[in-house]
Amino acid sequence: MNASARIIPITSELKAAAPATGALAAPLDGSLVDLRQRRVRDLRISVTDRCNFRCVYCMPKEVFDHDYAFLPRTDLLSFEEIVRIARIFVDQGVEKIRITGGEPLLRRHIENLIEQLAKLPVELTLTTNGSLLVKKARALRDAGLDRVTVSLDGLDDAVFRRMNDVDYPVSDVLDGIAAAAAVGLAPIKVNCVVKRGSNDDQILPLARHFRNSGHILRFIEFMDVGASNGWRMDEVLPSADVIACIHAEFPLQAIDANYHGEVAGRWRYLDGGGEIGVISSVTQAFCSSCTRIRLSTEGQLYTCLFAQGGHDLRALLREGGDDEKLQRLIANVWRGRDDRYSEIRSAATALPQGSSKIEMSYIGG
Ligand code: GTP
Ligand code: 5AD
Ligand code: SF4
Ligand code: SF4
Repeated sequence: MNASARIIPITSELKAAAPATGALAAPLDGSLVDLRQRRVRDLRISVTDRCNFRCVYCMPKEVFDHDYAFLPRTDLLSFEEIVRIARIFVDQGVEKIRITGGEPLLRRHIENLIEQLAKLPVELTLTTNGSLLVKKARALRDAGLDRVTVSLDGLDDAVFRRMNDVDYPVSDVLDGIAAAAAVGLAPIKVNCVVKRGSNDDQILPLARHFRNSGHILRFIEFMDVGASNGWRMDEVLPSADVIACIHAEFPLQAIDANYHGEVAGRWRYLDGGGEIGVISSVTQAFCSSCTRIRLSTEGQLYTCLFAQGGHDLRALLREGGDDEKLQRLIANVWRGRDDRYSEIRSAATALPQGSSKIEMSYIGG
């Protein structure tokens, strides 16, 4: 199945909600708020739905196989289109842009996109599996990328190979992290999705490895995102257990968030070994402060990671819509936003028949 089948076209209600002419729909001072009084601050742009890994919790091999219909090239937003949309978001209050995928470093000439986005007054970051960092870190830094977040689900080579399911060696990702650090793509965050019974024995080895490294290791609860990862609650290891496990060896103390809406809970090693984080979207949802919006590879706008449909920005772009029209649509989508999937997960997991959630590899991590 191709994810594009699930696009919600621009609805007549959205169009009708936009003012006919004249003043822009949203003030340019960042005061655009959704139905739950949340502002838009963080734009995540997916640049490809493809990946060279098949992480068991994200792109299980049985589903993402030779027959899987990835997006054809003509459906992808061009860099020019992405930059145009990004600029409008920045005018509406976005302060941080994260490039995601799939694996974003697989997109050809990605550094050209980085170079253009880096001209905007935002923090520019990228989430990667690290496999291409040795080759690309320098070019990314030179293009103006501020920092990277690298996924790493284990330190033991056998466990890591099992998690990525393409037999990829852990040493290459560690080299990628070192390459990113060497060119100053810092602070580097290292994200580990914990699946109970699969890689929970990696918590302490990872903690030991990244203590005193200057990198920020974060453990993420396995989420029920998408419709293909076979999610089960009993495979979620609560962040409280992760903290207890590390605390027993290296005493920890909770510290304040860096900014409103930060998804990770922060902890510092009492002996000064740096900090770690936990992302607890299952056991402690953070929807009430969610300032994120997602732009898919083919130009659909999603207001939640668990959305069942997006809003078609590409259609408006390609039918010649001007910036003002785009801005109105974006503002109206955000103003109508009421998402809080993680908070109401138990009820919402029973989705209506025939509907399914968007895959994370498509919508962006
Ligand atoms: P920085 O603070 O800028 O480093 O970024 P971040 O904390 O937003 O972290 P990152 O983008 O690396 O997100 C880490 C992980 O948190 C993602 O890969 C997801 O697993 C999870 N996550 C991020 N945003 C959301 C969200 O909006 N909802 C849910 N449920 N999970 C999220
Ligand atoms: N649960 C939690 N995080 C996930 N990611 C992908 N799938 C899941 C999932 N099921 C996130 C991880 C990974 C990033 C690319 O996407 O953080 O590092
Ligand atoms: Fe690829 Fe990242 Fe998904 Fe793993 S988690 S399959 S590296 S997109
Ligand atoms: Fe935001 Fe949706 Fe994630 Fe809640 S579940 S934090 S609303 S993206």
